[in-house]
Amino acid sequence: MITAIQIPHSKPQVGQEEIAALTEVIESHQVAQGPRIAAFESGMADFIGVSGGVAVSSGTAALYLALQALGVGQDDEVIMPSYVCAAPWVATSRLGANPIVVDIEPDTFNIDPEKVKSTITSKTRAIIVPHMFGLPANLTQLRAFEIPIVEDCAQTLGAIQEGVHVGTVGDATICSFFATKLLCAGEGGMVLSHNHALLDRVRDTREFDEKSQLSAESFNFKMTDLQASMGSCQLKRLDAALVRRVAIAERYTRELTGLPVVLPLTPKDRTHIYYRYVLTVAQPLDGLLNRLQERGIQCRRPIFKPLHDYLGLHGRYPVSEHVFASALSLPIYPSLTEDEIDLIVQALWEELD
Ligand SMILES: Cc1ncc(COP(=O)(O)O)c(C=O)c1O
Repeated sequence: MITAIQIPHSKPQVGQEEIAALTEVIESHQVAQGPRIAAFESGMADFIGVSGGVAVSSGTAALYLALQALGVGQDDEVIMPSYVCAAPWVATSRLGANPIVVDIEPDTFNIDPEKVKSTITSKTRAIIVPHMFGLPANLTQLRAFEIPIVEDCAQTLGAIQEGVHVGTVGDATICSFFATKLLCAGEGGMVLSHNHALLDRVRDTREFDEKSQLSAESFNFKMTDLQASMGSCQLKRLDAALVRRVAIAERYTRELTGLPVVLPLTPKDRTHIYYRYVLTVAQPLDGLLNRLQERGIQCRRPIFKPLHDYLGLHGRYPVSEHVFASALSLPIYPSLTEDEIDLIVQALWEELD
């Protein structure tokens, strides 16, 4: 039975402000990369707390350009976690470098610094550190390895680890503005950094047109003013959106305590902004996902497939495998209503107790 109430897993927060901003761009007839890009770049750099940013066409493009600007190339090694979307693997592989996949921590779902340490070789050129689901990875431990870090903030903006804001530690930081992300521009990404020389390299390689020389390193990775105007609208609302996410998460935690599940954990040294509310359950996930869907509630596996599974390495990443088998991501976004939270909580008690 499918009820009339449908609660999607993600819901982009787009409305009248975006319509007005997009209308203004269309009426200006400057719809490709134009002046709104620079405004969005400086807004994001201010929000994150770095000196500049370069807007590009996607988070994956941002990873690619950031790695390239760090000098990553043929046969270099780039370390990344297994429990992440395919973007870090794709960006690394397209540069001819070797993705080195490591396991995650069981409690934070983030890259395990001990596993990173034992994987570093003379060929290691970078570590991609995604801050998963809104919780910072352990930047304190990771930066001690003195290997260039690309902070992947596609899922986490505004969170803190040991007093340090995510996005301010890495040699480069990337963001995604895909429809379901914290800021929605449909598609889009950005490379941010304190390092102006690195940003110049990214700016130079995001486009190839009207250059004095041909360079195969450049491509068309530009963002449009349409996307940038949406991003800037959303950036104005980001602080309030993060507060609302945390309030929803606190309600979930309060009202789901007592179920035979593991609720999300926030280590004492950091804050969580709940891009996703991910709990782990003991019962088979597929049946549970289907039963919740039948009640009109769309939950998800937060990661489609761990990287090591794509690579035929099943059995060697026990934490990623356990989390993949048991992690359930609940709907969480600023417009989720209290009544909808009631329904989700009630459904989980009925399905899991
Ligand atoms: C952690 C992480 N990094 C990178 C990306 C890639 O971003 P995009 O979809 O904008 O290419 C994503 C998006 O799914 C992501 O979740």
